[in-house]
Amino acid sequence: MKRKFYCLISLALTAAMLFSSCGGTDTDETTTEEIDAITEAPLSGGDSSSESTTDEEKTSEEAVTEEKITYIGTVIGYTSKGYVISRQNGITYVENILIANKTYSLPESYNPGTLLSECQKAFSEMQSAAAKEGLNIWNASGFRSYELQKSLYNRYSDRDGKEAADRYSARPGHSEHQSGLAIDLNEITNAFKNTKEGRWVAENCHKYGFILRYPEGKEAQTGYMYEPWHIRYVGVNMATKIYNSGLCLEEYFGITSAYAVTEEETTAEETTAEETTAAVIEETTAAVTEETTAAVITENTTEAVVG
Ligand code: DAL
Ligand code: ZN
Repeated sequence: MKRKFYCLISLALTAAMLFSSCGGTDTDETTTEEIDAITEAPLSGGDSSSESTTDEEKTSEEAVTEEKITYIGTVIGYTSKGYVISRQNGITYVENILIANKTYSLPESYNPGTLLSECQKAFSEMQSAAAKEGLNIWNASGFRSYELQKSLYNRYSDRDGKEAADRYSARPGHSEHQSGLAIDLNEITNAFKNTKEGRWVAENCHKYGFILRYPEGKEAQTGYMYEPWHIRYVGVNMATKIYNSGLCLEEYFGITSAYAVTEEETTAEETTAEETTAAVIEETTAAVTEETTAAVITENTTEAVVG
């Protein structure tokens, strides 16, 4: 009897356990608790790998959200180093840094009339910091309008020729001075490099948001000869990154600085080449010996290049 009774009890208990583990008596409350338990499990401790993944994912998602940049104007592409190029009102930006060089110009109508306030403020701070060390830094040429740059460039190009002028003076629309973000310091001479002020500026201007825009040995990249006096405001973060990289702005971003060859220039070059060839052929025909021919070719080629 006893055995039968125990058997019955045991059967009843097993059936109850099976029934319960199958969830046959689900209520809303039980379901909610179970869902909560599953959801909370990874967050409530233990060495679950899914827990750390979740946290990491969360962290990176948050980081992405925090670092999301709003670009000025319309994104039009990427530089060779993958930085974002955008355009607004005819002005080009790379990572929201205004670009004015031989490749990227400013509209003739862009005229802030003076240095931009952030540039002026940073310059005043830098000037005060330098003064505390007994150094005298002054703004010799800041904002320059399109018209002023045009008259400067024309004067230089009349004096030295276009090719020479292009190495040290920007054509109108291509000068950073028109942006209101560039300043020429002190006497605007190469001697500035070896003055106390020049050395201090080279080593410290990034702390105030400036970079030396045309560093020594970078003419192929910037398009301009070394200018120890020309500083450009890009903000402290960017200036520090560029300074630490040892690169010039063009190299850092992966952009070019070269004037587009106009149709006029191409035609002019072709005409010169044709004229040279025609002249050489004409002279060559008249010449008697091979020696004379060679001399004429050299003479004509030289004239064409110099002219
Ligand atoms: N000297 C610099 C290149 C300018 O003319 O803007
Ligand atoms: Zn300058």
